Amino acid sequence: MRSRSGDLHPSELPPTIKKRYNPSSVISGWNNANARSSRVCDGGGIIFAHPYYHSLAFTVNRPHTTVVLAMSADGKIADRSRTAAHIGSHHDKLHLERQIARADALLLGAGTLRADQASLPVTTPALLDERQQQGKPPQPINIVCSPSGNLDPDWNFFRQGIPRWLLTSPEGAQRWQEQPQFERVLIGAATPSAERLVFDWPVVLEQLAQFNLHRIAVLGGAELIASLLAVNLIDEFWITLCPVILGGADAATPVAGQGFFTAEAPRLDLCEVINIEGELFLNYRVKR
Ligand SMILES: NC(=O)c1ccc[n+]([C@@H]2O[C@H](COP(=O)([O-])OP(=O)(O)OC[C@H]3O[C@@H](n4cnc5c(N)ncnc54)[C@H](OP(=O)(O)O)[C@@H]3O)[C@@H](O)[C@H]2O)c1
Repeated sequence: MRSRSGDLHPSELPPTIKKRYNPSSVISGWNNANARSSRVCDGGGIIFAHPYYHSLAFTVNRPHTTVVLAMSADGKIADRSRTAAHIGSHHDKLHLERQIARADALLLGAGTLRADQASLPVTTPALLDERQQQGKPPQPINIVCSPSGNLDPDWNFFRQGIPRWLLTSPEGAQRWQEQPQFERVLIGAATPSAERLVFDWPVVLEQLAQFNLHRIAVLGGAELIASLLAVNLIDEFWITLCPVILGGADAATPVAGQGFFTAEAPRLDLCEVINIEGELFLNYRVKR
């Protein structure tokens, strides 16, 4: 059997290189009387590492990546001011915190941090307990992607009780040399041909896996998500569809970059829909 691209289909690969992964994309125990959930697809997936299966999605030993976003009904993730648009309800905030609590690390684009100037720590006691039972530290590592390193140490982010790493360029690293704000400053592998530094995500994600980071929540923004999606390294989306219209020709949408032609656009499986008071929590898995 052949996949659409002509590569070997996963079922043809030797069993020794198949690794089951936990189908943990489905929120269980969503304990809200107003929540109505429909599970649309089920079952696990398989991560493959095989020389013939040369989709980047199957890079050896990389973390599972889940994008978590809130979007208006007209497809915007920020309002016309482009500052942090808190378009979701308190249910959405709890949902975001749940997703954060499941992660070993968060990836935040510098643009998102410039807009929000803060991250969302895990504070709900049940989620902190869960992390403790799983042998995880109370907070996931907040990894800021910023080749420029142009970040303001006065932001609230740097006063929050969370572990912070910086993924940057050699120039960006110089800015933060011997500063206490970041526990770790990583110089990310970069794509050599790019006009400005663009991270080489397959290499960077393999490097993050070596730090035992196996689940990453990608918290945006649009440029970061576009660059990961372009190399097929997003596994899952949680999109909260908020009942509000933001409009604006220039307002950010979930995925920036150059965009895709329809024929090659990433396709999604809808796995779960949760409706809480008109706000829809949509879980998609990226088709491989
Ligand atoms: N509604 C939501 O759920 C949600 C979530 C997140 C963000 N947002 C909104 O989205 C907007 C920010 O999105 P954005 O697209 O402007 O910014 P972004 O993706 O957060 O950040 C862009 C910056 O991140 C770095 N970066 C990202 N991808 C990179 C790559 N592949 N290689 C190298 N560097 C990379 C660069 O940093 P340097 O500039 O330092 O070089 C770049 O300028 C804000 O308005 C924010 O409020 C909304």
